[in-house]
Amino acid sequence: MSSDFAIETSQLTRRFGDLVAVDRVSLRVRTGSIFGLLGANGAGKSTLIKMLTTLLPPSDGSARVAGHDVAREPRAVRAHIGYVPQLVSADGGLTARENLLLCARLYAVPSAQRGPRIAEALEFMDLSEFADRLVKSYSGGMIRRLEIAQSLLHRPQVLFLDEPTVGLDPVARLAVWARLRELESRFGTTVMMTTHDMEEADTLCAQLAILHRGKLHVSGSPGELKAALGPEVSLEDVFVHHVGEAMAEGGSYRDVARNRRTAQRLQ
Ligand SMILES: Nc1ncnc2c1ncn2[C@@H]1O[C@H](COP(=O)(O)OP(=O)(O)O)[C@@H](O)[C@H]1O
Ligand SMILES: [Mg+2]
Repeated sequence: MSSDFAIETSQLTRRFGDLVAVDRVSLRVRTGSIFGLLGANGAGKSTLIKMLTTLLPPSDGSARVAGHDVAREPRAVRAHIGYVPQLVSADGGLTARENLLLCARLYAVPSAQRGPRIAEALEFMDLSEFADRLVKSYSGGMIRRLEIAQSLLHRPQVLFLDEPTVGLDPVARLAVWARLRELESRFGTTVMMTTHDMEEADTLCAQLAILHRGKLHVSGSPGELKAALGPEVSLEDVFVHHVGEAMAEGGSYRDVARNRRTAQRLQ
């Protein structure tokens, strides 16, 4: 086991029939850092995360998370990880506290510790005053914060978040960033997240990997990836350079980003 790297994959591959969704990906994530996975829709980001969280068995290759092999020691891996899926995972018909209690049971938090851990998670995610409201009355940002709170109850060493800030307004997005930074700095938590948001990738992640049709195209720090292309290059330019041609359908990433910026100015 290597404690320098909380996540290590070697030639990790997942096939669905003829489709190779993740194609021989080898990467390492340093313990206590935030790592970003970038890629167009269908690039294989969620499939990679599902293998690392033991929800999907690899077709080939191997991966270790928190020192344990995902295929041979899935229970040990699950004990050390938290997972915030791409789709909403909190139940709107329950309060935040009730959702957290369900998760505490699911993660086998000992019953005497459930109350204090739930209070701590609510406090950490700034949700204490809303704890007894039904989640269906929550904003998108509050739901995301609750989902992160759910994933922290058993104090995981490694946290996986699949598109954690999609659809959040800028203030809610900043709140999530602040909590993730604090997890890293206060508890040494390793974070692997996927994002389409280049500003998020640039400011939050120490290391990035760009996936394209299942293959790892390039990885490095945001600064390294930009410097490799030249002066005054933005991370958007890096992304377009590596995967842009794949995004012909429905306009390029650059068009989408430009439209979004225009929309923001009009608000
Ligand atoms: N359970 C599945 N069965 C068949 N194909 C799948 C399944 N899950 C994902 N795929 C396919 O694998 C590819 C990668 O998907 P995904 O990992 O969800 O990409 P991303 O998260 O980067 O958008 C896509 O072509 C998708 O349609
Ligand atoms: Mg996905």
